Amino acid sequence: MALTPATGGGCGESTPRSPIQSPRPVNSDVEWDSFDPQAYVRHNYADLRSDDREILCRIRDFFAEAKLSDARCVDVGSGANLYPALSLLPFAKAVDLCEWSTANVNWLRMQVDSYDELWDPYWQVCAEHPAYAALADPRRRLAQVGRVVRASVFTLPRHAWSAGTMFFVACSISADRAEAEHAIGRFLDALRPGSPFAVTVMLGSLGYSVGPRMFPAVSLQRADVVASIAAGAYDLDVHEVRPKPPLRDGYLSMLLATGRTRG
Ligand SMILES: C[S@@+](CC[C@H](N)C(=O)[O-])C[C@H]1O[C@@H](n2cnc3c(N)ncnc32)[C@H](O)[C@@H]1O
Repeated sequence: MALTPATGGGCGESTPRSPIQSPRPVNSDVEWDSFDPQAYVRHNYADLRSDDREILCRIRDFFAEAKLSDARCVDVGSGANLYPALSLLPFAKAVDLCEWSTANVNWLRMQVDSYDELWDPYWQVCAEHPAYAALADPRRRLAQVGRVVRASVFTLPRHAWSAGTMFFVACSISADRAEAEHAIGRFLDALRPGSPFAVTVMLGSLGYSVGPRMFPAVSLQRADVVASIAAGAYDLDVHEVRPKPPLRDGYLSMLLATGRTRG
């Protein structure tokens, strides 16, 4: 995924409008219901790019080796991205997709019912692993086990799930560093001790536009993110994805962290 940078308006493009007034908005300052899931998907996921492929391969192999079965799983801040949920599918008796924007919640409900063909290449990457290939009809399985919930990362229940993902959320829900740390802590705490998880963040992000709207981000450094995750995890594996040449200005790299939650 490549979140279009706030500063990236090119020649002749109209300047993205911001649904926020504050120069350093916190999460509650933002009109999340103005997030346009169609525009977001078109820009970020319409074509499976090499960075998402690499992340997907890594989480696929991680969850396949995690000895999970019949697990209650969660994806937090799902937005308009199905591939984290797909990576959990073979091991799940339930996948809860927790999202705050009602526009994204509505989009997710339709996709969980029967997802668009554009997600098929993402599943094909998963199905390169036998644990995933064994699942003949992922579209039907997601409709059976997926459940979309309007929920905030900041109010998730403790120790409610046994595996989870949170993709491009901590960095991209406000301009407040403390909220990014808090989101990571709440996500890890929502998982039972010993649960496998995958988290991605954009490092050095300046904010992003979705269609004509601008959304805030916090420019996180690798060491800060790793410290926040390590506080609640063990067996941490951290990997940075840097497409060469870079896909755009406005971020440094994508960081993927996998591990298990501490007790
Ligand atoms: C940059 S998008 C990431 C979407 C998706 N996970 C992905 O990988 O592309 C950030 C998402 O966080 C959601 N969000 C914002 N505030 C939230 C909150 N307090 N709790 C949960 N999700 C939130 C937004 O609506 C948006 O869908």
